[in-house]
Amino acid sequence: MKKFIALLLVLTMTLSLVACGGKATQTEQTTDPSNQQTDVSDKSGDSKTVDIGIVLPTKDEPRWIQDETRFKDALRSTEYSVEVLFSQGDSAREKQNVEALIAKGIKVLIICAHDGAAAAAAAEAAKKEGVTVIAYDRLINGTDAVDYYVTFDSVAVGEAMGQYLADRAEGKGNPLYLYAGAASDNNSFLFFEGAWNILQPKIADGTFEIKNSSEAVALQDKATLTRDEMARIIGQVTTNWDFNEAKNKAEAHLTAVGKEDKGDVFILAPNDGTARSIADTFAADPDVTSYVVTGQDAEKASVQYIIDGKQSMTVFKDVRTLVNDAINMAISVLKGNTPETTGAYNNGVIDVKAKQTDVIVVDKDNVKAALIDSGYYPASDFTGLD
Ligand code: GAL
Repeated sequence: MKKFIALLLVLTMTLSLVACGGKATQTEQTTDPSNQQTDVSDKSGDSKTVDIGIVLPTKDEPRWIQDETRFKDALRSTEYSVEVLFSQGDSAREKQNVEALIAKGIKVLIICAHDGAAAAAAAEAAKKEGVTVIAYDRLINGTDAVDYYVTFDSVAVGEAMGQYLADRAEGKGNPLYLYAGAASDNNSFLFFEGAWNILQPKIADGTFEIKNSSEAVALQDKATLTRDEMARIIGQVTTNWDFNEAKNKAEAHLTAVGKEDKGDVFILAPNDGTARSIADTFAADPDVTSYVVTGQDAEKASVQYIIDGKQSMTVFKDVRTLVNDAINMAISVLKGNTPETTGAYNNGVIDVKAKQTDVIVVDKDNVKAALIDSGYYPASDFTGLD
């Protein structure tokens, strides 16, 4: 029976790959669908050769499915063969994925690390084989094996969130709840740093009162935090980028505080998935009269939440731009040229040459103009749009 199901899975996958268009080649056979390559476009005719390998962190978050879709859209017209693999939140699997791609002869690796430190080993394995390594969205730390980095302005993401909250707080003593991303993700520090830049002066002048982190309270007079100090706060309020962990933490925080710490509250939520579960939890508390909650990624579910007034804002990161930057970089390397960069990020060992993209704040007022009229999403994906 098991064998039959496995066969069926492989057959279905092969069929769906062929259905995606072009000449598709099944190069890996595993019965675990979460680790399947999602796109193999073999344009060279040689089933063993892949030019560009792409490794994304997980299929469990809409953000990365969105990146996969945008990669597929952008790659339709290239002459190069590409394969996308998902690591499912597991660094060992991520390394296996990279090794599988190296074995297929990739010349460029575009990788969004599950864990920025652990991924150094995967980057080094690729580099050793002469592969050019492009860190995608998340920096890989502690190694000289990263050639380039394509990213959004992550400090600006955090600043936009902080500013959104600050602009809506009147008077003194507004309850503030802080949440952060996974400590293994370098971006979580950049987002938090940006938010702190804006929120700290507002905490210091009494506009906000932090309700859910003793570490943040202990550091609230410091305008600039070291990485270790941020790690102490993030250690307390991390969501680990996980919806359930976010929900459990929010529930625990609301249980721990009194009625006077609720009322009209302000919530720094690090991305859309966690924002939705935190927002739902706060909305369900009878002592919370209103809440302002941040987010990022413009995930479809959160766009609907914004239209419905259940999430206040999101930071829109146009994945089409990031995908195009990564592909243009890869193609430029494949052609023997030096890719264009606009700055650099230090990863603890080297300054990694980087190309950075700006972000856009989206809330109820501009959701239609920014995300629908711009062609990013079709209006038919949402209800309640005027
Ligand atoms: C970050 C990324 C965000 C977010 C998060 C969770 O590194 O920049 O867009 O979605 O990971 O996957």
